[in-house]
Amino acid sequence: MTYRDTSAGELTAADAGRTVQLAGWAQRIRDQGGVMFIDLRDASGIVQIVVDPAVHPAAVDLRREFCISVTGEVAPRPAGSENPDLATGGVEVAVSALAVLATARPLPFQLDERTEVDELFRLQYRYLDMRRPGVAANLRARSAAVAAMRRTLNAAGFLDVETPTLIKSTPEGARDVLVPSRLQKGDFYALPQSPQLFKQLLMIGGIERYYQIARCYRDEDFRSDRQLEFSQLDIEGSFWGRDDVLATIEAVMVEVARDVRGVELTTPFPRLTYHESMDRYGTDKPDLRFEMAIEDLTDLFSSTEFKAFAGAVEAGGVIRGLNVGPAGLSRAGLDALVDDAKAAGAGGLVWMVVEDDGSLRSPVAKFLSENELADLTGALSGSPGDLLLLVADRWRIAVEVLGRFRVRFGSPDGHDELNFLWVVDFPVFEETAGGDLVAAHHPFSAPVDVAEMESSPATAIAQAYDLVLNGSELGSGSVRIHDPATQEKVFEILGISPDEAERRFGWFVEALGFGTPPHAGFAVGIARLVSILQGEPNIREVIPFPKTQTGVDPLTGSPSPVDDYQLMELGIDLRPDVRAARLAAEESGGDQPEGS
Ligand code: AMO
Repeated sequence: MTYRDTSAGELTAADAGRTVQLAGWAQRIRDQGGVMFIDLRDASGIVQIVVDPAVHPAAVDLRREFCISVTGEVAPRPAGSENPDLATGGVEVAVSALAVLATARPLPFQLDERTEVDELFRLQYRYLDMRRPGVAANLRARSAAVAAMRRTLNAAGFLDVETPTLIKSTPEGARDVLVPSRLQKGDFYALPQSPQLFKQLLMIGGIERYYQIARCYRDEDFRSDRQLEFSQLDIEGSFWGRDDVLATIEAVMVEVARDVRGVELTTPFPRLTYHESMDRYGTDKPDLRFEMAIEDLTDLFSSTEFKAFAGAVEAGGVIRGLNVGPAGLSRAGLDALVDDAKAAGAGGLVWMVVEDDGSLRSPVAKFLSENELADLTGALSGSPGDLLLLVADRWRIAVEVLGRFRVRFGSPDGHDELNFLWVVDFPVFEETAGGDLVAAHHPFSAPVDVAEMESSPATAIAQAYDLVLNGSELGSGSVRIHDPATQEKVFEILGISPDEAERRFGWFVEALGFGTPPHAGFAVGIARLVSILQGEPNIREVIPFPKTQTGVDPLTGSPSPVDDYQLMELGIDLRPDVRAARLAAEESGGDQPEGS
């Protein structure tokens, strides 16, 4: 049996007179007494079908989302009844045969794009949500993006290689998702946070050009741009340096942007060093759809009498300022900015509003000289109405706090623009609040200068780089360490004892010792890329079956308890307190408590 010979969305006036067979869902049903108009939807689009219920009694019982197959003749719509909002709005299909393929229960929510539906509800019925235009369009865009990636890399001679997903832990800075082993009770696999070490092994293995659409798992705090499981375009190349990686990723992005958005990107993408990016924009992922740069005012206030400023500079700090433009805030609103700055770690914040006569209104204006005020207005290009924000603090705090205000007040002109840039020369290490050094990217990135890394690790620069799009980090990569001695040195600086390094990474360091070629690579978060291309603020919109912020799948109810015998086979018993909390939750009929 054939269900259809034509796609609904393809019909045009040129098809008038053709007899077609269509199959899809009854999206909208209007019974106009003696004649029924039905919007028939399939994956390609919608077309109106016209049914005479006297001839087709089954039509009377049709309800929304019944799955049907019809045969009929395509005809131009009568003059005046065309629908310009519909691609097929000039035609309709006069039905001569109708079969109901499947009935549908009453829907939990309307499937048109105009109805706002709670996200939890949408995820619980994701398969219905997907029948709405938004999610379906996002899945198509995602497929087109991945196809463009594969096409570009295949043509460039890359090998698509699968790496295992039950592995020994690879550190990428998040918590591992663990899988217990049945055969080796008490042992666990980790799901990969990324294929990092396997792709490096592929280089040691002589593969030279690798890519993979790789599934990764990270048990970290979920945000609008993070999921527990996600996919990366992961690449690696041998005899490569940084610029080979950047050029390859740029070539991929050009194809993706052309196929998904129909835009031609200009390459090479601009590059900023990490330090420049932090210094000018207060972040390592600046949105450069608008300029609004942070200015260095330290010299301008070098002989100031204002104690808060002088004190900060004496203590080795800096004074930075930002003109956020006309903000139109009340006094209370301005004072609230000071609280926000303090909450973000700054000692304080000075606000100033440029008055119509060019003078500055600010609680601290009286502590500053005429010259200082005039120079300040000049340095920040202040015009009447502008709000100027100043922070005197340690460099990092000053720029980061102003960077937050930049994002809050800056408005990206032309939301459609795709503003790609590279941020290069990241540090090798970052200092935690407790003063420990952790890898800024991951511990396999090569320092620019090994001797410098050993003598001053806190400030050493790595051959590591990020790709940024419209203020989001799309991807990261680096030139890798390819000799065992440097790799061991990094573990040592990270405070990993030789014993622990041997236990966790001995197999990898051993592999590095067998003639490892210089190599470098990169990984792009696919959902992040597609969500920005599609103008979706949340990556869940471009993921077919995402999890909620608490890592739950409301559709299937995972994660969920398993049977006792399954645990027994794995040699696992729940802790008594966990078991008790679970029982209590079951008895009260509620879900298990958070964090159990
Ligand atoms: P990194 O950890 O920076 O690098 O990850 C690369 C990119 O993956 C995406 N990403 C995520 N997307 C959704 N949910 C998450 N939880 C999540 N975490 C990361 C981001 C990010 O920029 N192995 C290295 C790459 C390399 O050095 O080659 C790595 O994984 O878009």
